[in-house]
Amino acid sequence: MLAGRHQTNGGVRLDSRSVLVFPAGMPSSLLWARHASESGIRVVGASSLAHDPARPNYSEWTLLPWIGAADFADKLNCCVRERNIDAVFTAHPVVWHRLRELLPKMTRKVRLEAEQPWAAELADYRGYRDIAASFLREPLQLAASGCIEPSIPLPQLAALVRLFQLVPGQCDHPKLEALTAIFRCMPPGDIVEIGSLWGRSAVALAFLSRHYNIGKLLCVDPWRAEEIHQGIPAVDTVFDDAPVDDIFEAFRMNLAPLKGVVNYSRSRSSDAAAHYSRERAFTTEDFGRTVYTGSIALLHIDGNHALAAVQQDIARWRRFVRTGGWIVFDDYCWPFGDGPKTAADEFCNEFSENLTGGFVAGGALFLQLAGATPERC
Ligand SMILES: C[S@@+](CC[C@H](N)C(=O)[O-])C[C@H]1O[C@@H](n2cnc3c(N)ncnc32)[C@H](O)[C@@H]1O
Repeated sequence: MLAGRHQTNGGVRLDSRSVLVFPAGMPSSLLWARHASESGIRVVGASSLAHDPARPNYSEWTLLPWIGAADFADKLNCCVRERNIDAVFTAHPVVWHRLRELLPKMTRKVRLEAEQPWAAELADYRGYRDIAASFLREPLQLAASGCIEPSIPLPQLAALVRLFQLVPGQCDHPKLEALTAIFRCMPPGDIVEIGSLWGRSAVALAFLSRHYNIGKLLCVDPWRAEEIHQGIPAVDTVFDDAPVDDIFEAFRMNLAPLKGVVNYSRSRSSDAAAHYSRERAFTTEDFGRTVYTGSIALLHIDGNHALAAVQQDIARWRRFVRTGGWIVFDDYCWPFGDGPKTAADEFCNEFSENLTGGFVAGGALFLQLAGATPERC
């Protein structure tokens, strides 16, 4: 996104009033124009195509000659004057270079967006790489059992950070860093996530599981409005109008590139646990049939945060977590309630002799099991 002292929204400078977007049909142009309109900026789409399919995306539209045409500069000058344009956005590097030469000669003062070609895209990529590099600079030293695999090489780690950031969600970088650390000492087995929402933590789990060849990921989430409520008014009101069907569809899109290592169950954690125990396989339209081992290497508990719900999640799933496997209680430190903390502390007290150790990162509690936690009568 644009650097500098100007306030921006999705890379859109908020001091621009009327912006010509040219060529208007490029995917980055369409995205930029949508952010600009949402910020109250007047956007005029421009194209050299007589029939441009991007036309319906713009409320105002104009035709400009090809940038190499003899009359391009005159036509552009007329356009910016007549339509009171004060900035031109282009996502095309060749057009950018031509505009940089022409705009200072316009009769009306017009700014060029972006200020540098490639700048917005590169800034994002540098950001992903810098976060990944910070994970590698001082890797978390875990007191864990099992052999330690090497860290993920920088470009792949940056790819993971990028994938993770592109998916909406509340999971943060310290939690991602901790996940990358525990996967280095993870036995083979299934990865089970209770509560996936858009799939932010799920893309990380699937990516890491594929990298270290751990096993298949199962995402369990009912994606139903009534299930999101956890008896905490400040949180529940946010989800009152949550478009859960749309979020579910977005989850499917987010996980689609990881097909082969993931499947999901659109159900409550308790129902999915019964199915997992009985069948060991889940079938969906998106990912086909996935057979699980029945032995869990990592259980990520991030579903309903009400105490009774977290207690039920752990009660239903813990017996499948294998020796050397991990349990992650999300929001162990949480300003909105102490359901996850109370349930996790109860678990630690009951099974203290079964734990190798644990630590807190990104508000989540990470526990490694020295031995399975059998059913108690
Ligand atoms: C905090 S969000 C999960 C966030 C996600 N892990 C991420 O990375 O952004 C909680 C999710 O738990 C789901 N959920 C609520 N009740 C559940 C239940 N009984 N079983 C499984 N998931 C549940 C909700 O639908 C919601 O999507």
